[in-house]
Amino acid sequence: MSNGNDLMDKLVSLCKRRGYVFQSSEIYGGTGSVWDYGPLGVELKNNVKRAWWRTMVHERDDIEGLDAAILMHPRVWEASGHVEGFTDPLVECRNCHRRFRADNPDIQGDQCPVCGSKDGFTEPRNFNLMFRTFMGPVEDDASVVYLRPETAQGIYVNFQNVLTTSRQRIPFGIAQIGKAFRNEITPGNFIFRTREFEQMEMQFFVEPGTDEEWFETWRERRLAWVRSLGIRADKLRWHEHAPDELAHYAKRAFDIEYEFPFGWQEVEGVHNRTDFDLTRHQQYSGKRLEYIDPNDRDKRYIPYIIETSAGADRMTLVVLADAYREEVVEGEQRVVLGLHPALAPIKAAIFPLVKKDGLPEIATKIHDAFRAAGIPSFYDDSGSIGKRYRRQDEAGTPFCITVDGQTSEDGTATVRDRDTLAQERVSSDRLTEYVRERVGR
Ligand code: GAP
Repeated sequence: MSNGNDLMDKLVSLCKRRGYVFQSSEIYGGTGSVWDYGPLGVELKNNVKRAWWRTMVHERDDIEGLDAAILMHPRVWEASGHVEGFTDPLVECRNCHRRFRADNPDIQGDQCPVCGSKDGFTEPRNFNLMFRTFMGPVEDDASVVYLRPETAQGIYVNFQNVLTTSRQRIPFGIAQIGKAFRNEITPGNFIFRTREFEQMEMQFFVEPGTDEEWFETWRERRLAWVRSLGIRADKLRWHEHAPDELAHYAKRAFDIEYEFPFGWQEVEGVHNRTDFDLTRHQQYSGKRLEYIDPNDRDKRYIPYIIETSAGADRMTLVVLADAYREEVVEGEQRVVLGLHPALAPIKAAIFPLVKKDGLPEIATKIHDAFRAAGIPSFYDDSGSIGKRYRRQDEAGTPFCITVDGQTSEDGTATVRDRDTLAQERVSSDRLTEYVRERVGR
């Protein structure tokens, strides 16, 4: 039986072996808690993001997309409360000067867990998690800018722009996918908590008084979306934030949690942010951010905001962890990534049974047909068929197509299903259609 650490080690190693995720700057010894997505990883993460965009933007009339810049006016972060409040309390070892979160269970008492000194720790001091840099050629206080710690603020400052140009009426939402940065004190667990990550956020603007109902609607919709990625229901649950856990902007918040190999953890948050953000931006910018009801011009208000905020990397980890399985098939152990076919990076692998008798030519033609149809496929003619199957099982490829002697006679090839292992003969000219139908979306 594998324990949680073993499972994570195996998943990290599979991700490296199959080109899903690499440590950033690995040839230099790696960068702390930053990861790079390899050829299969970028496809998987793009498929997760595309699935989100499709559900949140393309399939709806009441949500508009946005791609705001990472660097914003520094006053944004004063208005949002991040300059003052986006902090973790840190203590410093008086001997080695290493810093720890004040609530780290390893530093109860006076002994430093790193150098062993019993000199004790400094009083807790607040450490801001935003990355700071300078804009322009002068590095002084006037040129400080921050790498955004959440994408949400780019949406709030564009609320009026989107409202007027899209001619939406409340209730409506704005969705965005983009990078965010946090100088986390205790990052870790692979791509779960990193210092550079991507968020998929949607801010839904509603009339005050209707916010609680919309909050429940979005909770339901978001859980249904996570389930639509094929994630097992018994691995998902809700966690409501207690009053002392609530972020400075939230009236109510629920997290969707997933049971990772390292325990239950947050994947996505649904927050009732009230009118906090728009009110603050109105105050700090001096620009009116009210909504005027087009049917009743005397009805003006600052909208309440229901936010849905998911991490793209964290959701990708959920997808990978949920898909990973080890099993014994026909007396042999295999490792499989049982990814939802719509998310799988490669949809079909094409194998000539042998490298002669014209089979590679037929297999190449099939591979060309997949490319022409825009369906990601992979051609492999090296090693035994068993080995080729196992490589694709680990990569999460839902279908393997083998061209054999019968193909040259009757034009059919064998399609093997990754999960059921069932094999079916399908006419070569129907293969792209066959795979497309089963992959869906
Ligand atoms: N705008 C609200 C907001 O940012 P959050 O709970 O701080 O709320 C939302 O973050 C989501 O972003 C989390 O549920 C998680 O999926 C992702 N996330 C946050 N910090 C992260 C980190 N350091 N690494 C990876 N993902 C992170």
